[in-house]
Amino acid sequence: MENAILEQKTPTHIPVMAEEVINYLVTSQDGLYVDATLGLGGHTKSILDFTNYKSRIVGLDVDEEALSIASSNLSKYKSNIFFQNSNFSEIDRVLQDLEIGEVDGIVADLGMSSFQIDSSERGFSFIRDEYLDMRMDPRLRFTAYDLVNEMSVDEISKVLKVYGEERWSRRIAKRIVQNRGEKPISTSAELANLVYEAIPKKFHPVRIHPATKTFQAFRIAVNHELDNIEEFIGKAIPLLKAGGRIVIISFHSLEDRIVKNSFQHLSSPCVCPRDFPICGCGKKSEINIFTRTPLVPSDEEVLNNPRARSAKMRVGEKL
Ligand SMILES: C[S@@+](CC[C@H](N)C(=O)[O-])C[C@H]1O[C@@H](n2cnc3c(N)ncnc32)[C@H](O)[C@@H]1O
Repeated sequence: MENAILEQKTPTHIPVMAEEVINYLVTSQDGLYVDATLGLGGHTKSILDFTNYKSRIVGLDVDEEALSIASSNLSKYKSNIFFQNSNFSEIDRVLQDLEIGEVDGIVADLGMSSFQIDSSERGFSFIRDEYLDMRMDPRLRFTAYDLVNEMSVDEISKVLKVYGEERWSRRIAKRIVQNRGEKPISTSAELANLVYEAIPKKFHPVRIHPATKTFQAFRIAVNHELDNIEEFIGKAIPLLKAGGRIVIISFHSLEDRIVKNSFQHLSSPCVCPRDFPICGCGKKSEINIFTRTPLVPSDEEVLNNPRARSAKMRVGEKL
């Protein structure tokens, strides 16, 4: 009875495109895999179930709270998992510390878990009124509060334009700086209201909250998300066995572009300028790309789990 109550209270996350992840990632039933974004353990659980607990998994997450929920959700499987509170941009060091040379596959499901959005109380969502923290990793120095209250109009505008692709970046930045003159902007609802007011009503998006892009932009900036992805991919490939797979699920175009370009670079056998008669760069193709266009979730999955709707999955195989 007590266990049943505990189970009900532990948040879970429906893993996105779990069937596709297994199909592409698992090349060996007793393989060693890295779940670079363990989250609440959804993908790890499906891999372990599929491999009848024969596989082992190194599970990374920067969020220690997520890691502790995952360890409770996955208590049945503990002997198969190495839990690591680390950034995936340090995947090389993590495996080195565990004295692991190569692995059979690496999966990353980018972004945030439902727990972080719905109940971490760190200001990721404009739906609730929470302190503007937005750090997935509490060890990071700057919070969203720091950026919102200390950056100049130019700096805020650039963050919103580059990381949010926000058309109204300058208007929003000006409104933020103007308002914080009276008192600091300290909560998610305060920021969301400012953005709502800054964008002319007739240009409010129909299906999403007008502050969606602003929140995405500050979250990316606070967590250095795009730099981490690029560094991660570069370090992950040398850690794969020949034939091992890398599977990455992204949720917006900025992430997907980095994955696409990094995969293209890794698969290319030459980076010499086009007009060079003979190749002199010495580069070799390191991966074979399985997904020239990204895989997307089925209509049925999106119906059952609307958070999967913008997912894009790309897969590479180490040569
Ligand atoms: C979409 S969730 C993963 C959900 C997980 N696949 C599941 O099924 O439960 C993304 C997770 O990645 C973590 N994360 C984001 N950036 C990270 C990074 N650079 N290194 C490690 N973990 C990261 C987040 O804290 C979050 O818990």
